Amino acid sequence: MYDVGKIVPGLAVFALLFLSPLLYNAASGKAATLPTVQTPSGTQCIESAEYMRASHMDMLESWREQVVRDGKHTYTASDGKQYDMSLVGTCMSCHTDKEQFCGTCHSYAGVDPNCWTCHVAPEVTKK
Ligand code: HEC
Ligand code: HEC
Ligand code: HEC
Repeated sequence: MYDVGKIVPGLAVFALLFLSPLLYNAASGKAATLPTVQTPSGTQCIESAEYMRASHMDMLESWREQVVRDGKHTYTASDGKQYDMSLVGTCMSCHTDKEQFCGTCHSYAGVDPNCWTCHVAPEVTKK
């Protein structure tokens, strides 16, 4: 027979550990926490960090559409600054380390965008 006395508490502990990030987020009122990543200093992103965290994938998708379908190349940010709509040329000129930056979050979130099968990320010189 199974040892119900051990299995039930075991399940309870498992459920609690499994749910704890959700409970924590519900209690603190924050969206699911993403890992902390290194960002370049002395500059700022194209849009606010909050916006970028939530919507960079939509921004990239829209950039791609505009460049490939409409031949448009310039993005005007909400602060009026203009950027060339380029994944490698723009994003990666600041976020040079794809593994550290994009990769840390993506492995946490369980996504693996296939962009790098065609786009060539900058070489990272290991210190
Ligand atoms: C001019 C430099 C620069 C460019 C270009 C740039 N970023 Fe950023 N990015 C930053 C900085 C600096 C931060 C840190 C947040 C801040 O203070 O704005 C940041 C923050 C972010 C964040 C949030 C990270 C966090 O702290 O959780 C994401 C996601 C991001 N960038 C993605 C992108 C993508 C995708 C592109 C291209 C569409 C891009 N960035 C282009 C400089 C840049
Ligand atoms: C702060 C964390 C964070 C950083 C940094 C970050 N991403 Fe993401 N990214 C995410 C999350 C989370 C998702 C999944 C969102 C979803 O599925 O709703 C995602 C999804 C994407 C997607 C869509 C993939 C898919 O399968 O739906 C693309 C494309 C993408 N990111 C590109 C980038 C690039 C390029 C960089 C580096 C310049 C980057 N991201 C940096 C958190 C991050
Ligand atoms: C099958 C190959 C392939 C894959 C995979 C791919 N791209 Fe592209 N992408 C291209 C080509 C080709 C262009 C057109 C280049 C040009 O016109 O300069 C392009 C253009 C773009 C552009 C605008 C121009 C530039 O220099 O960045 C963006 C933004 C872009 N892709 C984002 C993405 C993102 C984000 C992903 C991953 C979700 C992705 N691409 C995956 C081939 C690919």
